[in-house]
Amino acid sequence: MDLVTTTSPQPTDFAMRKIVIAIDGYSSCGKSTTAKAVAAELGYAYIDTGAMYRAVTLYLLERDIAFDDLPRVEQALHDIHISFKRNRKTGRNELCLDGVIREDEIRQMRISNSVSEVSVIPAVRHTLVAQQQRMGRKRGVVMDGRDIGTTVFPDAEVKIFMTADVETRARRRQEELAVKNEHVELEEIVENLRKRDHIDSTRAESPLRRAADAVLLDTTHMMIDEQVDFVLERVSARLFERSSLAITGGEERNPSGAGL
Ligand code: DC
Repeated sequence: MDLVTTTSPQPTDFAMRKIVIAIDGYSSCGKSTTAKAVAAELGYAYIDTGAMYRAVTLYLLERDIAFDDLPRVEQALHDIHISFKRNRKTGRNELCLDGVIREDEIRQMRISNSVSEVSVIPAVRHTLVAQQQRMGRKRGVVMDGRDIGTTVFPDAEVKIFMTADVETRARRRQEELAVKNEHVELEEIVENLRKRDHIDSTRAESPLRRAADAVLLDTTHMMIDEQVDFVLERVSARLFERSSLAITGGEERNPSGAGL
C-alpha cells in the first residue's frame, strides 16, 4: 500500500520556512554587528542597506555630481551597479561599486558627513528600496537600515528597532574608525551622529521611525552577544508561534512578532 501523502503544510514547514528579519535604528547602535551575527547563526543572507546609500554617496562625490542636480543624479542611479561580494577570508559581505570592492572608502568620515543628504533624495530611495526588495524576495535575509520594517519589508516577520545613548554610539564609531587608522575627535562624531539622526528622522520620504510592531532594543548597556541572543530569541518565538498556528489552523495576527 502507498504511504499516505498530504499536500497541506506540515508544522515543521512553517518553522523551517525562511523569514525576513528587519533591524532598524539609529547609527552606530550595533545594528550591523548584530545583524551579521544573527544571519550567520541562521544561515541567512545579511544585507547592510546603509552601505548602499554610502555607495551612492561615494559615486556622486567622485564624479562631482551635486546632490541637487536631479537629472545627473538620476542618470547616476541608472548607471551605478551596487552589489555585495562575500570575502571568504573574513566571512564579511563587502560592498562593490561597479564590481570593485569599496568597503573601506564608504566607511570614511567624508562619506558619513554627506550620506544623510543623499539618502533624502526620493529618486535614490526609490531605486535602492526596489533593489533591496529584490534582494529579499526569497526571504531568508537579515536586513539592517532605517526603513526596513516600515517601507522595504513592512511584512517582515521579526522587526527590531535599535537605539542607544549618543555618547555610547560615538565611542563605538570612534573605535571602529581607529581600527582603520582614521582618528576622529569624539565631539566630531557626536555632532555627525546628531545631525544624521535629525536628517534621517525628519526627512519626508520613509523617515527613520519605529514601526508600530517593532520590538525596541536599547543597546546602551548591552554586549554584542546579548543583542544577538535578544534577536535570536525573537526569531525562535516567532517560528514557534508559526508552527503552533499551523497545528491549530489559526491565523497569523501579528506577522512581525512584536511584543513576543
Ligand atoms: O547604517 P549607516 O550608518 O551605514 O547608514 C548610512 C546612512 O544611510 C544613514 O545616515 C541614513 C542612510 N540610510 C537610510 O536612509 N536608509 C536605510 N535603510 C539605511 C541607511
